Formats: sequence, C-alpha cells, structure tokens
Amino acid sequence: MGKLNLHTIFILCSLLLLAYTSYVSGKTVTPVDKWFKKIKKSSTPKFKIIEFYVQDIVSGEGQTVFPVGYSNISFTSPTNFGITVVADDRVTVGRDPKSPDLARGQGMAALADLEDRVLYLNVVFYFTQGKYKGSSVAVLGRDPMLVNSRELSITGGTGAFRSARGVTWVTNCSPYSPTGYTCFKYTLYFTHF
Ligand SMILES: *[C@@H]1O[C@H](CO)[C@@H](O)[C@H](O)[C@H]1NC(C)=O
Repeated sequence: MGKLNLHTIFILCSLLLLAYTSYVSGKTVTPVDKWFKKIKKSSTPKFKIIEFYVQDIVSGEGQTVFPVGYSNISFTSPTNFGITVVADDRVTVGRDPKSPDLARGQGMAALADLEDRVLYLNVVFYFTQGKYKGSSVAVLGRDPMLVNSRELSITGGTGAFRSARGVTWVTNCSPYSPTGYTCFKYTLYFTHF
C-alpha cells in the first residue's frame, strides 16, 4: 500500500471537486424531477373522471381521419383487415359538433380482427383548452366500434395526468359511419399522481 503524501491528497481532492462540479452543473432539474421527488415521499393517487365527445369525420368537409395503409387482403377480407388510419379528431365539451373545443384526439387505428370489425386503437387526447391545457392522456385498446358501448385502457399521461392508469367507457353518440361522421362519447376513469 502506497503512502499518502500531500501531493496525492491534493490530486485526489482536485478530482473529487471536478467530479462534483460537473455533476452539479450537468444536472438540469426538470418539472418531472420535482414531481418524481414529491411522489416518492407521498404517493397518494388522485382519482379522476373526465367526460368529452370525439368528433370523427372520415370524409368530406372538415375531414380529420385519413387512411394511410392497407394489407393485400384489406379489400377482400370480410372485415377489411389491415386498413389503417391516422386521425386528428376534434374533442369537444358537449355532444354537438358546434360545442367548444377541449382537446384533440391524435392517433392511429387499424382494423385488426380477421372475423369481426374491430379496431386496434392507439390515441393521445391532448388538452388544448381549460385547466388541463398542455396535458395529455393515452388510450389504447381493442375497439369493436359497432358495439354501442365498450371499454378501452388508459395507459398513461403527461402534465397534470402523469402516470395515468385506468379505463375509458366509450359509446357512440351518433349512428356509426365508417365513411362519414360519427360522434363518440368518452368517459375516462383513472388514477394519476
Ligand atoms: C399477401 O401477401 C403475402 C406475402 O406478403 C402472400 O403470402 C399472400 O398470398 C398475399 N395474399 C393475397 C390474397 O394476395
């Protein structure tokens, strides 16, 4: 074991100081850091129910849903298997399409069942108005849109809804139209921190 002389002590101290200053200056404290620290101390979930209406327009004026892909059996399979769309739907406070905006429903859906008309749906509801402006909730699930009510997962969230987990109950508030306009009512039940 070598002897500790003044010279090696000086070098060790310099290295430690250098490591410490680069650690401090390199670390940016983000809002997520602060939130994570807070929930580490007290992680009581908040329970939330939010209701809104999704205005889904597949063709014509104000179209918000656009096909982006097909499979080679999309037009021969009884369920149009593989048709994939990307949507940026208006999300409103009320059922009426003229009702004020609340959010956007941005995501993808694919017909993903060989036997029934069922969508695999993956959509982020991004709030553009009100007290949740800038926050989002992610919804993922199997969506049999011809069944009048169904349940999808809530898999996550950002901003006011960080760590969201729950389910959303979806009903059609106008007759389902795969080529025109349909209104969907979403009621989200979730916990977040
Ligand atoms: C679709 O494509 C796959 C190969 O990717 C092929 O095996 C299959 O026979 C095709 N089906 C039809 C109906 O063309």
